[in-house]
Amino acid sequence: MDPVLNPFKPGAGQRPPILAGRDALLHDFDIVRRRITELGEGDRSWILTGLRGVGKTVLIGELERVAVNAEWLVAKVEVRKGHGLADELATRLAASLRRAQRRFDPEKLESLLRVFKSFTASLKLGVINLGVEITPAAGYADTGRLSTDLTDLFVALGEAARGLGVGGLILVDELQDATAEEMAAISTAIHQISQTSPMLPLFFVGAGLPSLPSQLATANSYAERLYQYRTLSVLDAANSRAALMQPVIERDAVWDEDALEVAMAAANGYPYFLQEVGKAVWNFADGPRFTVEDAKVGTEIAREEVNAGLYQSRWDRATPAQRELLRALANKGHGEGVMVRELARAMKKPNASVLSVPRDELIKKGLVYAPERGVLAFTVPGFHQFILNQH
Ligand SMILES: Nc1ncnc2c1ncn2[C@@H]1O[C@H](COP(=O)(O)OP(=O)(O)O)[C@@H](O)[C@H]1O
Ligand SMILES: [Mg+2]
Repeated sequence: MDPVLNPFKPGAGQRPPILAGRDALLHDFDIVRRRITELGEGDRSWILTGLRGVGKTVLIGELERVAVNAEWLVAKVEVRKGHGLADELATRLAASLRRAQRRFDPEKLESLLRVFKSFTASLKLGVINLGVEITPAAGYADTGRLSTDLTDLFVALGEAARGLGVGGLILVDELQDATAEEMAAISTAIHQISQTSPMLPLFFVGAGLPSLPSQLATANSYAERLYQYRTLSVLDAANSRAALMQPVIERDAVWDEDALEVAMAAANGYPYFLQEVGKAVWNFADGPRFTVEDAKVGTEIAREEVNAGLYQSRWDRATPAQRELLRALANKGHGEGVMVRELARAMKKPNASVLSVPRDELIKKGLVYAPERGVLAFTVPGFHQFILNQH
């Protein structure tokens, strides 16, 4: 089939042709949107967690799209290690504020702009273009302490949004890579918002790996009650089927039933694999009817793509000691979490604390996480199979 017309979109953050299995979440977000738009009232913020490649970034992008269409004040950032979150957030928010000045009465934005200006000055973020000359607000966001100043900024943002009859939306992807100080500051600010009555229409969505809830809880003791935690998981059979079938039908092609089953079995409901498999089968198939042969060859090609794109580089970056631990985890867990104590025993180590260095390093690299205390699991689905095939 013509690769130019290939509808599938494998790759980090790539919007899939259909967003399968996320209706419930989008429906809930629509309720948040309506409460904010119709009542001017906010709601409890969300933390979205899931393994790599389940669709967190795509979903964040979808929420952004909805909010931008509704003319909300929106800032979406992706945390990058070694880059300040405040800086990134301010830059993104400034872009939204420049757009808002063209659309809304500038007077209704003035006090937010002034607080924004204080925020960037006190945290020494450098000059961020707001599109207007404005003097900083005295006494707001000017302490130089991130948690205090971010709180002032979020409150000002919520108040401005309310005055404009819209909402504010802050989206932070890869939140697990933020520092503890940054996490604490966000939770402090959201805590303040949640105590306004009626709650200010500022909504926060943080997305990250499954370790995120416990990281937030470590940074602030009340984080557990502050957010609504939602897990993004793999797609069930019906949604996997839809993800593979619908985009193909829309381009006048079709899967034979047994071909579809081969593809579904290979992808295992994992959104990123579904896209790789769909793409490879489409490109390999000669005609608009995908046969079981197409599916078999396509899944093989897709597997190589996934190996190269997802696993090989991560494996290459691991040190010998880290690889030894990864191998034991793959052997013992087959994709499930394993007690570190058990890993130590399997590796013939005297005790679990011997493993604490490679364990911590692998967590820092984002390769594994602790689903519970003393347990270790992969953040990347299917990694165990790849490792078991390495010699
Ligand atoms: N709901 C979905 N249905 C089908 N494919 C999806 C869905 N969500 C994400 N994908 C695909 O999965 C891959 C990974 O998505 P991404 O959002 O980058 O995952 P994450 O941020 O969780 O690592 C992309 O190729 C994307 O097109
Ligand atoms: Mg992502």
